[in-house]
Amino acid sequence: MHFLPQSIDQYAEEHSQAEPQLLAALNRETHQKVLQPRMLSGHFQGRVLSMLSKLIRPQHILEIGTYTGYSALCLMEGIQENGSLHTIDKNEELYDLQRKYFDKSGWGTQMHQHVGKALEIIPQLEEKFDLVFIDADKRNYLNYFEIILPKMNKGGIILSDNVLWSGKVVEELKAGDKDTEVLLAYNKKLATEDRVETVLLPIRDGLTVTRVL
Ligand SMILES: C[S@@+](CC[C@H](N)C(=O)[O-])C[C@H]1O[C@@H](n2cnc3c(N)ncnc32)[C@H](O)[C@@H]1O
Repeated sequence: MHFLPQSIDQYAEEHSQAEPQLLAALNRETHQKVLQPRMLSGHFQGRVLSMLSKLIRPQHILEIGTYTGYSALCLMEGIQENGSLHTIDKNEELYDLQRKYFDKSGWGTQMHQHVGKALEIIPQLEEKFDLVFIDADKRNYLNYFEIILPKMNKGGIILSDNVLWSGKVVEELKAGDKDTEVLLAYNKKLATEDRVETVLLPIRDGLTVTRVL
């Protein structure tokens, strides 16, 4: 979902850093071979993730929802030397494609893939994280927040994608729409929770930046 006129979206993309070649190739291969390629962050949001990561300079990154690995590679652009990224996806069919591009990037040994349900895998991770990107099943966003918070360093940043949910968060809630219901509660929690401070950026489908106090 894009909230801005297409011409403005296009202008913003054209006046941001060009998409690196490796990411353009992954973008193409995802569109050719993988179902639901719209899930991939894409050029503009990818540059936003890359820039945020470069500003944060994280040592340890956690990503929930790898898909084909596009956003993981964007986040790696800001990683400290010898830092690591753990990325989780329940879809094992995506593993080989992720690995192919992680290895081509030169960061392959620092990027750790986990296959399974994020809520089961996160408790097994020992790192304290400086940057977390939440981009998986919306109905677990509140659960992810609670399970991640004790594993964050002070000053660490949690990025949450799709928080505007194609605008459904400002429409009348439809009966049975559990995803929107959880996102409404999640957005409210992040805005009012005193353990963090938050700004919701209306970028693409909504990207929240949350800083751990
Ligand atoms: C929107 S895509 C991620 C896109 C990716 N971050 C990017 O920007 O290129 C969401 C992914 O979350 C995964 N997923 C959904 N529910 C999950 C869960 N409970 N645990 C782990 N992964 C999950 C899906 O398999 C899917 O690949």
